[in-house]
Amino acid sequence: MDWGMANRMARIINPNTGRTVMLALDHGYFLGPTHRIEEPRKTIEPLLPYADTIMLTRGVLRTSVDPKSATNVVLRVSGGVSVIGPALSDEGLTTSIKDAIRLNVAGIGISVFIGTEHERQTLLNLAELVNIGEEYGIPVLGITAVGKELEKRDARFLSLCCRICAELGTHIVKTYYCEDFEKVTTGCPAPIVIAGGPKLETEMDVLDMTYSALQHGAVGVDMGRNIWQNDHPVAMIRAIRSIVHEGLKPKQAHEFFKEIKEEQNKKVASG
Ligand code: R5P
Repeated sequence: MDWGMANRMARIINPNTGRTVMLALDHGYFLGPTHRIEEPRKTIEPLLPYADTIMLTRGVLRTSVDPKSATNVVLRVSGGVSVIGPALSDEGLTTSIKDAIRLNVAGIGISVFIGTEHERQTLLNLAELVNIGEEYGIPVLGITAVGKELEKRDARFLSLCCRICAELGTHIVKTYYCEDFEKVTTGCPAPIVIAGGPKLETEMDVLDMTYSALQHGAVGVDMGRNIWQNDHPVAMIRAIRSIVHEGLKPKQAHEFFKEIKEEQNKKVASG
């Protein structure tokens, strides 16, 4: 691997632990002002110190993240659709490699919609992005999107999607956690991170899912709503971090979550 590519990969996946906590904030690219990220800067700023990488679009990066921050960025470069349009899967490339380089990104991310009418188009978009990424030493995050069809998220479907992304040269694959998750990771030679999906009922559900994904071969998370839609997003990202980088068990991480939450409540109460 060339130096630039290896260096950027190390900015995404921490070489000391081999793992990563990516913070996903790209939802507005097709959902508009999603709940709790209506004002991106307010959501992002307190979480920045605890994310290895943030994943977002160039518009939110330029308007809502301080360029002096030491944050690593994985830039979403696919889109062109909306949740009220005819087909979420009909994505194209939205951002040039020149602009990604100008933004000093660590990586670039793109969704593929396998099993849809736009399978070929989105897979060829991914393949082209890998060609460009290889040329400039920029890793590509391939995202196995399911659009509104959340029920698709099983091991058979996701292992097919992840393997195809890896075969096309994707450097990191982002997918969903599912039952029999080791089938997904063992069939995919590229490192896998999990999305969180819609907000789960309890914090323990999120911590259990994170722990289990790592136990079954994921290298980390690229999580959004289950962090910033929580009433205590800083406590949540720190608890997830404690599992990913320090190897805490879900119950220990939950205790840690409660401690941070208490500390923050006290700070608020004392003004
Ligand atoms: C969705 O299309 C985006 O790529 C999100 O970044 C991804 O779903 C992760 O966010 P969440 O954990 O909220 O699912």
